Amino acid sequence: MVAYQTLHRSARVRDGDTALIIGASGGIGTALLQLGRLADLKMYGLASRSKQAMLGKYGAMPIDYHTEDFVGVMRQMEPGGLDAVFDGMGGDYLPRGFGLLKRGGVWVSYANPRSLSGMACLLGRVLWRNLLPDGRKVVLYGTGASYLNRRPFLQDWAALFELLGAGRIKPIIAARFPLLEAAQANALLESGQVIGNIVLSAPELLLV
Ligand SMILES: NC(=O)c1ccc[n+]([C@@H]2O[C@H](COP(=O)([O-])OP(=O)(O)OC[C@H]3O[C@@H](n4cnc5c(N)ncnc54)[C@H](OP(=O)(O)O)[C@@H]3O)[C@@H](O)[C@H]2O)c1
Repeated sequence: MVAYQTLHRSARVRDGDTALIIGASGGIGTALLQLGRLADLKMYGLASRSKQAMLGKYGAMPIDYHTEDFVGVMRQMEPGGLDAVFDGMGGDYLPRGFGLLKRGGVWVSYANPRSLSGMACLLGRVLWRNLLPDGRKVVLYGTGASYLNRRPFLQDWAALFELLGAGRIKPIIAARFPLLEAAQANALLESGQVIGNIVLSAPELLLV
């Protein structure tokens, strides 16, 4: 849902748009890759080297953020600028990378800030960037909006289940754990080895 809505509601991508995905090997990043390929985007993704083969499978060019300067690489690859950036990391990615957008380009930030001060800093940066009349903007995305208006979420769930039913998307599930083993699941996620998602299951709760 995050991937679908950031693509189609926040950035309103079109065929052939150029996009950078920050956090491309993660749960949301891999969904962005799958949905971005369906939307015919030209994609670049930041990911650790060991996970880069997966980006290639979706037609995205990988950039190793540990060893490469993504700003320099993107300027070389897309001198005309990017149409959209999907930022699942936050922090200083926005001030470092905002200049990569072309006029009319959108920076979509969906990362959850880790502290109140991080949230305040992000809001300040968003306000500042959006005040500049340079034709580029930052959009903050949050699923919390579903509490205010459920209609877009119901429409998008329907669209996603249709894509799933037709086999056009296939969420990447790296591992499954029973809910009571969530600590082990979290440890695996924090080990940095996971590509895609971990599913926690609690079938007994479905019977209640
Ligand atoms: N706004 C919303 O409604 C909403 C909803 C759900 C989640 N979120 C937020 O979205 C973010 C991503 O969630 P997720 O589930 O996709 O997380 P995830 O599966 O844990 O993936 C995070 C990815 O970040 C990459 N990463 C780690 N450090 C990095 C760095 N310094 N630079 C670039 N990439 C780095 C890792 O890539 P490598 O392993 O390749 O290094 C990893 O694949 C989180 O902040 C989460 O809280 C927001």
